[in-house]
Amino acid sequence: MKTIITEMFNIEHPIIQGGMHYVGFAEMAAAVSNAGGLGIITGLTQRSPADLANEIARCKDMTTKPFGVNLTFLPTVNAPDYPGYVKAIIEGGIKVVETAGRNPAEVLPYLKDAGIHVIHKCTSVRHALKAQSIGCDAVSVDGFECGGHPGEDDIPNMILLPRAADELEIPFVSSGGMADGRSLVASLAMGAQGMNMGTRFIATKEAPVHDNVKQAILQASELDTRLVMRPLRNTERVLNNKAVERILEKEQALGKDIQFEDIIEEVAGVYPKIMSEGTMDAGAWSCGMVAGLINDIPSCQELIDRIMQEADDIIQQRLGGMLNA
Ligand SMILES: Cc1cc2nc3c(=O)[nH]c(=O)nc-3n(C[C@H](O)[C@H](O)[C@H](O)COP(=O)(O)O)c2cc1C
Repeated sequence: MKTIITEMFNIEHPIIQGGMHYVGFAEMAAAVSNAGGLGIITGLTQRSPADLANEIARCKDMTTKPFGVNLTFLPTVNAPDYPGYVKAIIEGGIKVVETAGRNPAEVLPYLKDAGIHVIHKCTSVRHALKAQSIGCDAVSVDGFECGGHPGEDDIPNMILLPRAADELEIPFVSSGGMADGRSLVASLAMGAQGMNMGTRFIATKEAPVHDNVKQAILQASELDTRLVMRPLRNTERVLNNKAVERILEKEQALGKDIQFEDIIEEVAGVYPKIMSEGTMDAGAWSCGMVAGLINDIPSCQELIDRIMQEADDIIQQRLGGMLNA
């Protein structure tokens, strides 16, 4: 399948693996890229720019295909060394960067000067238009369904994607709730040039996370995610567990007076415990409603091949058949 996104990123299939904290290691990115999609290393999971440089080198040992790096700008107590990470990305010869969180204006000139394509992840049309206006090459439009940070507007992709198509001139991919060939065809129908998946890629053979995480996604239904940190205007969609229930109780009890410090135990530094050690109740971890559509643990190659085959069948047979009836 050829789209503006496959051409821009020099990939075989219009499928991207979004940056994921403590999931987007070299093993994950290489597996997705080797399967013809665009794998992405999560920059800030690496503790320093030197570690990121090392992770990029490890990924290059595992694939000759293009892969990207995610740079997330979220409210954190101590700001990471963004210039250092940008330097590691440029010196590592990376050609695609996925930015997320606040707008990437401060790093954009350096990335663009190095000939890097920037795809910014946004949860609203106004943020997508802002990304377009500052010179991003593409956007990932992340609907309310998504695992991670859906923003504060709560607009699902059935509305958000066609709205983006109506307003944007740069190409965009759908993100949030995407799992299979149906997701891809629906995204293309609504104006996207490809799709981005997070949660679906965690339940793959190569995802470098504890098996408990994969099993938790398989067992979860579409009813099992919760939104936390809404009162802090840092909303995150997470899989429900004991820690999440504690956060929600505190949010209920403290209302608008809640501070980050009140929930620090449940959210700060919990990812290694969950993703690497498999201690599932150690804290809140991002997971999309799409868990309800995930029932197996294929390899990335099997997953992407299946999505492309399904998309082909839907377009040629199901939809084509309706037209020719
Ligand atoms: C465990 C997990 C961690 C994530 N970490 C990040 C992150 O560090 N930076 C980022 O930009 N997005 C992050 N995301 C969001 C994904 O890149 C992607 O936008 C989202 O998962 C899409 O929704 P889906 O899970 O329904 O596919 C994360 C998602 C998950 C599930």
